[in-house]
Amino acid sequence: MPPSISTYPDQQQLATAAADLLVQQIAATLATQPRCSLVLTGGTTPVLLYRLLAQLPYRTQIAWERLWVLWGDERYVPLADPQSNAGIAMRELLDHVPIPPAQVLPMPTTYADPHAAAAAYQQQVQQILAGGTGQLDIVLLGMGPDGHIASLFPDHAALTLPDTVLVTAIDDSPKPPPQRITLTLPALQQAGLVLLLVAGAEKAAAVQRSRAGDLALPAARVQPPHGRVLWLLDAAAATAR
Ligand code: 6PG
Repeated sequence: MPPSISTYPDQQQLATAAADLLVQQIAATLATQPRCSLVLTGGTTPVLLYRLLAQLPYRTQIAWERLWVLWGDERYVPLADPQSNAGIAMRELLDHVPIPPAQVLPMPTTYADPHAAAAAYQQQVQQILAGGTGQLDIVLLGMGPDGHIASLFPDHAALTLPDTVLVTAIDDSPKPPPQRITLTLPALQQAGLVLLLVAGAEKAAAVQRSRAGDLALPAARVQPPHGRVLWLLDAAAATAR
């Protein structure tokens, strides 16, 4: 199914649409299975969404006790570091909703070797896949101006790992900080629904190239065979140059 695209006048309306969509999709997933896995993204774009989900009415519209939360990528910094994707999501959302702590699975950043951390997280991802419907039910992704998603950057070796590798570590991220852990494309292809949340004029060219199928951009490579991709854009990111 070709990716669909929705455009909103500004980032607040983009966040509201994303919140409405998440409430609807989580409920639809839980109507047919006991639990729902939700992969959060880092960066700044989702913060308005996270804040909305932490407030009424959204906070009471999601069955948090049946949700398992993972991350698509993480900067290799302590959870308390302001750059931590998990730290941001906890402060803006997860600390304010009744999700059981055992169901919140941040990527570990305490191992001396980030590759060991990635291997440990892969085991958690595999447990989630085995315990559910074999997919990552809902995956949120942001996108950089270069078309990167999660911590998968153009021309990077992490894009061509074997299908058995679901989580990897990188130490040369062009977007600081350099050390990161990320889901790989084989993991992202196991999504049921991918929501690409993209805002800002600086991303318009990458949106256009990705939607045209330019596989040099990692965003264009997210094509889950049993899932669908929805682009949610603000007007600035949707304005082709
Ligand atoms: C990260 C993110 C990254 C982000 C994009 C967009 O760790 O930085 O996971 O993939 O989603 O770079 O970032 P903004 O939303 O801040 O533009």
